[in-house]
Amino acid sequence: MGDMTRYADFFGQPVSLFGVGALRKLPGYLRAFSANRAVLCTDTGVVAAGIAGEVLKVLNEASKLDVTVFDEVVANPTEECAARGYELYKATPGALLISLGGGSAHDAAKAIGVMAAHDGALWDFVGVNKLKRSLPPLIAINTTAGTGSELTRFAVITHVAKRTKLTLVDWRLTPRIAVNDPSLMVTLPPELTAQTGMDAFTHAVEAYLSRSATPLSDACALEAIRLIAEYLPRAVAHGADMEARAAMAYAQYLGGLACNSAGVGAVHAVAHQLGGLYNLPHGLCNAVLLPWVLEYNLLGCMERLAEIATIMGEDAAGKSTRLRAEKAVEAIRALGRDVGMPQRLGAIGVKEEDCPTIARQALEDPAIFTNPRRATESEIMAVLRKAL
Ligand SMILES: [Fe+2]
Repeated sequence: MGDMTRYADFFGQPVSLFGVGALRKLPGYLRAFSANRAVLCTDTGVVAAGIAGEVLKVLNEASKLDVTVFDEVVANPTEECAARGYELYKATPGALLISLGGGSAHDAAKAIGVMAAHDGALWDFVGVNKLKRSLPPLIAINTTAGTGSELTRFAVITHVAKRTKLTLVDWRLTPRIAVNDPSLMVTLPPELTAQTGMDAFTHAVEAYLSRSATPLSDACALEAIRLIAEYLPRAVAHGADMEARAAMAYAQYLGGLACNSAGVGAVHAVAHQLGGLYNLPHGLCNAVLLPWVLEYNLLGCMERLAEIATIMGEDAAGKSTRLRAEKAVEAIRALGRDVGMPQRLGAIGVKEEDCPTIARQALEDPAIFTNPRRATESEIMAVLRKAL
C-alpha cells in the first residue's frame, strides 16, 4: 500500500487571468457580481507609477463600477492599516474589494474583508478556518511576481505590539479573481523584482519539501522552480523582457498554488519574525535565509532536494543523492547571488541579541509545522548564528 497521506486536501482558486492584456478581461467577470461599488485597495507607489490610473481607466470604460480608492496600504501591513481601509469600506457596504499591488495590498484587503464581515475584529481569527462569515468578494490584481497572495487562503498581518507577523488561514480569504498581467509588472525595479521573485521561489521550494506535499502541489512547485530559475535572472537583468515577465507571473502563481495547500517551512517561519521585528521586505528575508535553512533541512529531504538540482539544470548524473542535494543548495545560493540578494543576515540588519526571540517565535509560527526537519530552538539558533 502506498502512502495515502499524500492524497490530501487541495485548495485552489477559482479564476486567474494571465498574459499581456489580462487586465482587459477583468470587467467582463466583474459584471457577474452585479455590484455597483468597489473599494480599490492599493499603495502610493502603485498610484505614483501610474498603474492605479491605468486600472481605474479600464474599470471605468468597461463597467459601471463606482470605485473609491484607498491608497494607504503599507509594506508589512498592520491591523491599524487595515482598520483605516475598513473605515472607508464601511461607508460603501456591499462593495467589491479590489486589491492592486503586491502581497501587502492583497493581505490588507483580506484583512479589510475580515473586518467588514465581523464588525472590525481581526485577531480573533488567527489560525485555521476561524472565520464565522463569508467575506465581500475580493479581486486581486498583481503588480509583482510575487507573493502568491492574489490566490492564497492566507493573510499575513503584522502585530505591532508583539513585533511579529500573524497568519490567518481560511479558504474564505481566497480571492475570487486573480489578475496576473505582466504589463503591470514591467516597471518593477530590479531589486524588487529579485526580492519578490525569490519569495515565489521560496514558496515553490518549501512547498516541494513540505511534509504536506501532494502530487498536485508537487506538480505546481516543480514547474515553478524550473521557470523561476530560468526566468528570474532575465527579468532582473532586463525588466522589459516580456517573455521573462510573463513566465515569472505564471511561475509565482504556481508557487503560491503549491504552498496554498502544502504550506511552507522554516524559512517562512523565521522570515515572518524578521519582517515583524525589523519591518524588512518579506522576499528579501526569504532570499537570505533560504540556502542556510536548506543546509540544515538537508537531512530531512535529501531525495527531494536532489530532484531540485536536476530541475534547476545541475548536471549531477551518477552522483550520490547527498551530493546532488548539496548541488541544489549551491545552485539556490548562486541564484540569490546572481539576482543581487545579500548572503548574510547581518547585511540586512539582523542583530545577534535578537536571535533568541526570533528562534523562539519562529517555533510558534504555523509555517514551521510542515518543515521537513523537526526543528528545536537551539537548532534554529545555530542556523541564525551561521547565517549572521
Ligand atoms: Fe512568502
